[in-house]
Amino acid sequence: MTIAELAPAATASSTAPALRLHALRKTYPGPPVIDAIAGIDLHVAAGEMFGLLGPNGAGKSTTVGVCTTRIRPTEGHAEVFGIDVVREPARAKRRLGVVTQDNTLDRSLTLLENLRYHCRYFGWSGRRAAARAEELLERFRLTDRADAFPNQISGGMAQRLQVARAIAHRPQLLFLDEPTAGLDPQSRLALWELVSELREDGLTVVLTTHYMEEADQLCDRVAIVDHGRVLVCDTPEALKEAHGVGAVVDLVLESRPAPEVRQALEAIPGVRSVEDSEGGIRVLAEVGDGLLPRVVQAAGPAGVRDVSLQGSTLEAVFINLTGRDLRE
Ligand SMILES: Nc1ncnc2c1ncn2[C@@H]1O[C@H](COP(=O)(O)OP(=O)(O)OP(=O)(O)O)[C@@H](O)[C@H]1O
Ligand SMILES: [Mg+2]
Repeated sequence: MTIAELAPAATASSTAPALRLHALRKTYPGPPVIDAIAGIDLHVAAGEMFGLLGPNGAGKSTTVGVCTTRIRPTEGHAEVFGIDVVREPARAKRRLGVVTQDNTLDRSLTLLENLRYHCRYFGWSGRRAAARAEELLERFRLTDRADAFPNQISGGMAQRLQVARAIAHRPQLLFLDEPTAGLDPQSRLALWELVSELREDGLTVVLTTHYMEEADQLCDRVAIVDHGRVLVCDTPEALKEAHGVGAVVDLVLESRPAPEVRQALEAIPGVRSVEDSEGGIRVLAEVGDGLLPRVVQAAGPAGVRDVSLQGSTLEAVFINLTGRDLRE
C-alpha cells in the first residue's frame, strides 16, 4: 500500500477555505494582561502548505490551540472548512489533526494502542481502528516497535507516531506545531518526506517553525507573526522580493565597535541597517560591487575575527521588518 492510499480524501470539491481566521484575539487576563493573539485575519486554501513563522512568544501555538479547539478565543472566529471551531468543536475536530509542540502520546499505551485508541475516540469500530493502526505503523516504519511504549523510542520515532496519530482519523487539515524542534537533521528530513507525501493527495498543512529555511523550502505561503499579529503574509519569494534585502553580512568582532565604525558602515552605498549581534555586528545591505571588502574595511578598527554572508532569506525579511533576530 502506498501513502497515497492512506491519505485523506481530496479536498478540491470543498468551496470553503481549509482555514479562515477572522479578527481573532486571545487575551490572557493576567496580571500581566497578555494579548497572545492580537487580531489575526488569515485564510489557508485547501491543499496549501502554510507556514506560521515568528519568534518565541509570537502567538503561534496559541493560534494553533484556538484552531484545534484546545483554546477558546476571546474574540473573533476560526473556521475549519467553514465549520466554526467554537460553535461546533466536535465537527471541526473530525476535519483536523494536530501535532502539538509537546509530546502528547499516551505513555501508558503502546505505539499500536496509541493509534487504535485515537481511532476509537473518533467513533471507529474496534476492527477498523485496529486495521488502521497496523496500516499506519507500517507506513511510518514503526511496525517492529508496535508493542513498545512511547518512552522506549527515539525522538524521531515519537514524532512520526504523533503525525501518524494526527492523521489516523483521516482529517483534511493537519497542524504541525514546531514538528522538527529538537530532531536531528536526518529525522527532520524523514519527517518532511512523509508530510510531502501526504500533501500530494490534497492534505492541507499548517506548520509553525523557527527554521526559516525549512519554511522557505516547504511552504506555499507564510505568515510572519510577531506579538500576536501578522506582519506580512505571502509566498516566500514575494516576501523576499518585497521585504528582503540583498545580503546579510555577519561580522564577529574583537571589540564593541566605536560609533565611528558604525557610521562608516552606514555610509557604505547600499547598506540599509547596522545592528548589534552576538559577538559583533550585522549589516543588512543591497548586494553591490565590493560590498564585502568595504564592510570588512569599515569594521577594521573593531578587529574583524570572522565574516559570513548570506543571500536574502526569510530570516532577513524578519530582521528587516522587526529589527530583531528570530532566535533572540
Ligand atoms: N496559558 C497562558 N497563560 C498566560 N499567558 C500565556 C498562556 N499561554 C501562552 N501565553 C503567552 O502568550 C504569548 C504567546 O504564546 P505562544 O505559546 O502562543 O507563543 P509561540 O509563538 O508558540 O512561542 P514559542 O515559539 O516559544 O513556542 C506568550 O507571551 C506566552 O507567554
Ligand atoms: Mg509555540
